[in-house]
Amino acid sequence: MSDFQLNPLYEQIIDDLLNQQFSIADHFFSDDEVMALRESLRHKYEEDQFKKSAIGNQTNEQIVTAVRGDFIFWLNEAESNPAEKAYFDKINDFIEYLNRTCFMGIRDKEFHYAYYPEGTFYKRHLDTFQNDDRRKLSIVCYLNDQDWQPEYGGELAIYINKEDGEVTETIYPVKGRVVIFESQVLEHEVKPVKQPRLSITGWLRTR
Ligand code: OGA
Ligand code: MN
Repeated sequence: MSDFQLNPLYEQIIDDLLNQQFSIADHFFSDDEVMALRESLRHKYEEDQFKKSAIGNQTNEQIVTAVRGDFIFWLNEAESNPAEKAYFDKINDFIEYLNRTCFMGIRDKEFHYAYYPEGTFYKRHLDTFQNDDRRKLSIVCYLNDQDWQPEYGGELAIYINKEDGEVTETIYPVKGRVVIFESQVLEHEVKPVKQPRLSITGWLRTR
């Protein structure tokens, strides 16, 4: 036998994905890891390293503020600072687990920081592109400092198809919360924010 160790957190996420196409994990990262990522995001944002987000991918990219108003910074794993390196270490471990236990065939990943200034939102959408369906799982980790209050807005709404109609799942972007969902299946939306909203968001892709 190999040295395979069952990971209860990953097992819960895999179960959730199979049963409801999304999973919420509030303790995927430690508090220290989340705070370090938050500091790293803020530092890059203050240094003006973020750019206005676009819709579509590199071959047909458009900036449409009426659809999406956040600012992003694409992470390069090879240039990671310690906070980002700790982040990628956990993500890589998760990918290895998925490939080993579920044969998901994840070969690639892409992650960006996102900063939503007050008044911005991201209208209902799917995370796959018309000319590229390699994104398999979407992973968002919220980097807001204090406990996010409902009056700050910025909820993630996930639209789930059930036999008797559509159900909306509302998820608050509280500090350290990780949301994972099927990129090709679940339409979702970021409701207008009334406080700056910070996150690290990315995708696990097949070839
Ligand atoms: C995205 C997205 C959700 C969120 O960046 O594509 O849908 O809660 N983000 O930030
Ligand atoms: Mn999305």
